[in-house]
Amino acid sequence: MAKRRAKRPRAPRRPLTERPRVEELFARYQPLLGAPEWAELCEAFKRPLPSTFWVHPARLSSEEVMNRFQESGFEPAVMPWLSSGVSLPTGVSLGRRFEYRAGLIHTQEATSMLPPLALDPQPGELVLDLCAAPGGKSAQLSLMMQGRGTLIVNDLSFARLSALRATQERLGLTNMVLCAGEGERLLEGHPPCFDKVLVDAPCSCEGTIRKKGKWSFAVERGDFRAGLRATQLKLLTHALKLTKVGGRVVYSTCTLDPLENESVVHEALKRLKAYGGSASLQPVSWEGLQTAQGVTEWEGERYDEPLQRCARVYPHQNDTGGFFIASIEITAQPQEGLDRDALINRGWRQVSDLTPPEEEVLYAWSRDIFGIGEERYAGLRFVQTSKRHASALCEELLIPPTRVEVSGLPVFHTKGRLPHFTTAAALKWGHLATRQRFELQSEQEVDLFYQGKLIPAEGRGVERGDVFVIYEGRSLGCGFCFPDPETGALMFSSLYPKAIQLAEGRSAFERVDLT
Ligand SMILES: C[S@@+](CC[C@H](N)C(=O)[O-])C[C@H]1O[C@@H](n2cnc3c(N)ncnc32)[C@H](O)[C@@H]1O
Repeated sequence: MAKRRAKRPRAPRRPLTERPRVEELFARYQPLLGAPEWAELCEAFKRPLPSTFWVHPARLSSEEVMNRFQESGFEPAVMPWLSSGVSLPTGVSLGRRFEYRAGLIHTQEATSMLPPLALDPQPGELVLDLCAAPGGKSAQLSLMMQGRGTLIVNDLSFARLSALRATQERLGLTNMVLCAGEGERLLEGHPPCFDKVLVDAPCSCEGTIRKKGKWSFAVERGDFRAGLRATQLKLLTHALKLTKVGGRVVYSTCTLDPLENESVVHEALKRLKAYGGSASLQPVSWEGLQTAQGVTEWEGERYDEPLQRCARVYPHQNDTGGFFIASIEITAQPQEGLDRDALINRGWRQVSDLTPPEEEVLYAWSRDIFGIGEERYAGLRFVQTSKRHASALCEELLIPPTRVEVSGLPVFHTKGRLPHFTTAAALKWGHLATRQRFELQSEQEVDLFYQGKLIPAEGRGVERGDVFVIYEGRSLGCGFCFPDPETGALMFSSLYPKAIQLAEGRSAFERVDLT
């Protein structure tokens, strides 16, 4: 039998405040800020980060969210620069809460919300998110596109994209195609075709120290930056080449290091010029958000003046993490940009080329059981993604001629003869049902549903069979009603996915004790 290697005991991690190394790690940035502001930066890096999230624009208003959290004893504040962004000073596990489970909010660090805002994708556009996992920004992009057009979501690591699938189902995203591979080689040699590209590049992550409560191993090693910079440069240069004239590329990192930021942008723009294209840097700013301009000189290197138009976000300015954002507009390309027809001629597929399920059966079932008519699915197509699953995709979606996963939003599965809605479908359409609505009557019942428990259903206006679970007008998922074998009374059984069920004794409505 193979011998188990004894685990080396880990040294206990010391709290950040006891580690004098923030100053040491960031000493090199003192000349950028001057001593007094640099000291503020270091102090900010030692404080824990507020919990932040954004509100699903189609499901809830910021006012409703504020009320909900205020009623639970929190002191939420709308971000001055983003009306759908909310910050909670008190640390709270948002992932357990009702608002998160019902797909009404998505947790994300405040500065991470900025790159999609700078990219500003529009409904119907062709958009690429080149380094996408775990996918908070992809979700923002998809919702900003109102579920229309095509969002190609790529990451080197397919495993890391699995988090995005869970987000996709919770928030009801229908316009994404997933790819895994080196971003710098995606659609290599392809003429420019994208309207917008986000390069949220792998970096030393110095700016996330507050979030993680520690720094990554990389920051402590001296030798990693050159390798990272080479990858960043390849990714950005490739993105610039793939974007059409008039299109936009946003380059962002969560590091303060000019070598991974301004220096990369400066060099990539030079490479685009050598390739026969050109681009201009656009000013990046938001009302209510304090930022610093990009640097033009660092460790003996000089960058072009327009690099000042980039935005640096320092943690002490807005009580956030650290970030860098550059917005680049493409002004010339050596090759003509391709429109939809040209892409189809080059082998891009349309959703109508994919295998449809028996749509008539699905529509009839949706209408007859739940009273949700076909017109509610306008703008979408159902595709058969496996023998037992069907997904919904935006009908405008284009699929590139490369290895992709067209998973779509999983909405139906078949068990036996009849189709059944998935939790993702319930979250998206369940509130539209006119029949088979199982209305939960208290927070305790919601917790029972999330814990996968049984609830008496007699006299609650539902019949035996599938139901949507409704609370305060929102659909939370699926359930099933059946007669109790002993008493014959109707019972409700939760079909909330086991993997994300709430542990017994926990509540999705945790309150802050105000006494
Ligand atoms: C800063 S993270 C992206 C975060 C993401 N945009 C989000 O909002 O959740 C950088 C990502 O780049 C990926 N990556 C690293 N090298 C890459 C490459 N050559 N091509 C594409 N992705 C790469 C990493 O796996 C990592 O997920």
